[in-house]
Amino acid sequence: MNETIKTLLSRRSTRVYKHDQIKDEELNTILKAGMFAPSAMNQQSWYFTVIQNKELLNKINEVCKSIFLKSGNRTFEERAKSKSFNVFYNAPTLIIVSGYEKAIAPQIDCAVALENMFLAAESMNIASCWIHAITSFSDTEEGSALLKELNIPEGYSVVGSGAFGYKASGTDNIAPRRENVLNIIK
Ligand SMILES: Cc1cc2nc3c(=O)[nH]c(=O)nc-3n(C[C@H](O)[C@H](O)[C@H](O)COP(=O)(O)O)c2cc1C
Repeated sequence: MNETIKTLLSRRSTRVYKHDQIKDEELNTILKAGMFAPSAMNQQSWYFTVIQNKELLNKINEVCKSIFLKSGNRTFEERAKSKSFNVFYNAPTLIIVSGYEKAIAPQIDCAVALENMFLAAESMNIASCWIHAITSFSDTEEGSALLKELNIPEGYSVVGSGAFGYKASGTDNIAPRRENVLNIIK
C-alpha cells in the first residue's frame, strides 16, 4: 500500500489533543493543501481563517456552548452542560473555512479543501476533526458579532471548520464503515 493510501485510511476524527501548538511550517503545509483542492470552475471560492489565539478560541467555544444550550437537541444540550465542554476538544488550532456565496459550489469547494487539509495533517502526524457548530453563528446575534470580529470577508459564509493539533496517544476509535454503498457497473 503506498503512503497516500495509508494516510487516507489512517486519518480519524480525533477528539483528544495535546496542548502543544503545531509548527508554522506544518500549518502552512496544511493551508497549501487546502488551497490545492479542486474547485468548481477553479473558482477557489474558499477563505481560510486560522485561529491560534487561546482567548479567541475560548470566546468561540462560549458561543458554541450557548448555541448548543438553545438547540432543542438533548444530546447537544447535555454536552454543553458539561463543565469541561470544548467544542473543538481543546485542539490548539482552528481553521474556519468560509465560501463565497455567489460561487458555483462554495460548500463543495470548502468541503474538499477541508478534507485535503485533514489528509495533509494526517501525513504529518497531526490530528484533526471537522467542527460543524460554527456554521450556526450567523443565526445568532453573538455569533454574528464574533464572525465580524474574525474579519471574514463580506459575501462569505462559514461552511465548516477543522480542529488541528498533535495526537494524544491511543485516542482514536475507528468508526465502522457502512456496507452496501457501492455498485460497480462494467
Ligand atoms: C460535515 C461534517 C460535520 C462534522 N461535524 C463534526 C462535529 O461537529 N464534531 C465532531 O466531533 N465531529 C464532526 N464530524 C466528524 C464525523 O463525526 C466523523 O467524520 C465520522 O464519525 C467518521 O469518523 P472518522 O472521521 O474518524 O472516519 C463531522 C464530519 C463531517 C463530514
